[in-house]
Amino acid sequence: MTFHPVPQAAQLQPGKGTTVSVAGKRVALFNLNGELRAIDDTCPHVGAPLGGGWIDGGTVACPMHGWEFDIKTGKGVTVPGCSVKTYEVRNNDGIFEIAIN
Ligand code: FES
Repeated sequence: MTFHPVPQAAQLQPGKGTTVSVAGKRVALFNLNGELRAIDDTCPHVGAPLGGGWIDGGTVACPMHGWEFDIKTGKGVTVPGCSVKTYEVRNNDGIFEIAIN
């Protein structure tokens, strides 16, 4: 597992999400009350970007058809069998980094 710097993470405001490209992967990054969390950006339904979804508490709703996912665990809420991968995020001396295998 390798940590990759994501400089734009520092600009992400609480309650917001975005899509970032990390080591060639699309990752959805969220700021939950100051805590940064990362999951796969690609919705398992038909591939819409979850980083552009609607955040409600600890879940994000896909912007295309509204399937919801738990941001901390990646577990599917709307369709329990359809979950997304989570990625570790760390703050390394003020630079946020995401771990990609
Ligand atoms: S593409 Fe995400 S719910 Fe359909």
